[in-house]
Amino acid sequence: MAPSTERPNLAHPDSSTIRSLFNAISDQYDFLNSFLSFGLEAFWRKQLVREALRGFRCDSILDLGAGTGKSLNIFLKAHSFRYAAGCDFSDRMLQKAKERLGDSAVLVAGDFHELPFPDGSFDLVTGSFILRSVQDMNRFLSEAKRVLRKGGRVVFLELTRPRNPFVWQYVYQPYLKFYIPFSGKLFSRHKNAYQFLSQSIQVFPDPEQLKTDFESAGFKHVSLKPLSFGAVTIIAGTAHE
Ligand SMILES: C[S@@+](CC[C@H](N)C(=O)[O-])C[C@H]1O[C@@H](n2cnc3c(N)ncnc32)[C@H](O)[C@@H]1O
Repeated sequence: MAPSTERPNLAHPDSSTIRSLFNAISDQYDFLNSFLSFGLEAFWRKQLVREALRGFRCDSILDLGAGTGKSLNIFLKAHSFRYAAGCDFSDRMLQKAKERLGDSAVLVAGDFHELPFPDGSFDLVTGSFILRSVQDMNRFLSEAKRVLRKGGRVVFLELTRPRNPFVWQYVYQPYLKFYIPFSGKLFSRHKNAYQFLSQSIQVFPDPEQLKTDFESAGFKHVSLKPLSFGAVTIIAGTAHE
């Protein structure tokens, strides 16, 4: 059979394309994450942890699309959990998480649209930079809600588009159009990864649309917290009150 010449849709890639992409870049992922965010990702992750734990009694945590375990590691340093778990469908990313976290968290290979955990297992379900990979938002949110206990919280951190027209036109568009492709050339072995990053940010729903999705899925007290002029947003909600 002739090799397929079809190019993957990198604004909305399917699950197997996403998995191959993260398996391919697992060795460079932490460096790139920091490089492409000018080091801001460390600050954003700390804000995520602070927002998630603020005024909330929490014994158990699940990190969806845990990747190399960076956010989960910050959670574990900030708070003592009775049970901590991470889930990801990329074996290579999970391997990096295992190296980082050792036995401090249970790491499970699986798809976050179909979580291998019983109902009501967790106080907190979190995820960083994963919402752009979600294939079916309703299913994803209903799974997150299913594994939460009554009154449990979801808190996600995601890349979004700045609202300020000046920042959008003079900072963020050049960033998407020049800085990311330039980095793609510099690390050209996996240029699809940069295209996914750039294209998925451009088509990702506005935070207000996400808020509506969370409310439709039955989450209460849904809040949006933009950081760095809205380049990222923390979205949080409460399950089953
Ligand atoms: C951009 S990385 C984020 C990794 C990590 N959360 C972080 O903050 O650095 C997205 C991660 O989500 C994982 N992922 C994407 N789709 C997934 C799915 N359907 N089920 C499980 N993991 C998924 C990828 O394998 C990847 O590790």
